[in-house]
Amino acid sequence: MTRRAILAGTGSALPRTRVSNAELAERVDTSDEWIVERTGIRFRHIAEPDETTATLGADAAKEALQAAGLQPADIGLIIVATATPDNTFPASATKVQALIGAPDCIAFDVAAVCSGFLYAVSVADAMLRTGAARHALVIGSETFSRILDWEDRTTCVLFGDGAGAVVLSAEEVEDDRGILATRLHAEGQYCDMLYVDGGPSTTGTVGHVRMQGREVFRHAVTNLASVLGEVMADVGLSAEQIDWVVPHQANKRIIDATAKKLGLPSERVVLTVDQHANTSAASVPLALDLAVRDGRIKRGDLVVLEAMGGGFTWGAAVLRI
Ligand code: ACO
Repeated sequence: MTRRAILAGTGSALPRTRVSNAELAERVDTSDEWIVERTGIRFRHIAEPDETTATLGADAAKEALQAAGLQPADIGLIIVATATPDNTFPASATKVQALIGAPDCIAFDVAAVCSGFLYAVSVADAMLRTGAARHALVIGSETFSRILDWEDRTTCVLFGDGAGAVVLSAEEVEDDRGILATRLHAEGQYCDMLYVDGGPSTTGTVGHVRMQGREVFRHAVTNLASVLGEVMADVGLSAEQIDWVVPHQANKRIIDATAKKLGLPSERVVLTVDQHANTSAASVPLALDLAVRDGRIKRGDLVVLEAMGGGFTWGAAVLRI
């Protein structure tokens, strides 16, 4: 028997307002053709003032709890991965805890931008296996629209808002169910290639997203292909044995190039970037929830999650559903 973190349920939440490329082109100097050709993005959801990282995260968490057949009181650990918290402090995880009505438990945020969900899953996996909690809520939730420079067409067309959540439960298993391996990386020397030009300790403002798009693209393909190779080697499996890849949804061209490098057919890659754009830490759990709910990802499947983002940070996880 081995103690592992098992995927017990998934959930997601999107803001009410959906904005098409054509609608965006009415206020930004861009076009549907340019955005689709360079990124694959067609729509993004944009949060209204009453929709925040914590409220979206809580809505996704409630869905995941329901799917897992658990109550808020069953949860011993809440981790929210976000780069856009409601407040500088307290952690959005404590706000989610209050919104879902979970009693005393461990709750904190993880900041690793687009790789945040992978970092959070890895931390939760370790804490569950070492007995810190029996059930964990791991949430990626973002309101990137609040930190976009809407005058900068090179960044503002790329992002959207949303949240995804999973319940991970510690179980003693005899088979290979659960999280089998995780790998995380960071290379801080590239921190000025994708960053926000503000913060409490520097400008005292929230700031806006700045990015050297071509450099990010180049590093993303190299790093993602390499970390996927690492996790698969960790579990002694090859790319052909993967049933589904759930990648970070930044850009269809990055996703296609990474899959090609690994020889993975596009039919086994879950794609939501066309509908959601890049929702940063929310993108992987949002895509995972969609593919679980529409029946593509099912019990017994071998699933690989991967993401890369500002820092640079990147990571991957392999799990048997
Ligand atoms: N609409 C119309 N034209 C635009 C837009 C826009 N929204 N943005 C830029 N352009 C123009 C530029 O001004 C430039 O014009 P010029 O040739 O007259 O100077 C032209 O399009 C080409 O610009 P590039 O920046 O060279 O375009 P590129 O092909 O590199 O595509 C993109 C840009 C889509 C940002 C690409 O570099 C990319 O996807 N990079 C990865 C970035 C990313 O996904 N970041 C997300 C966060 S990181 C992560 O999650 C992995």
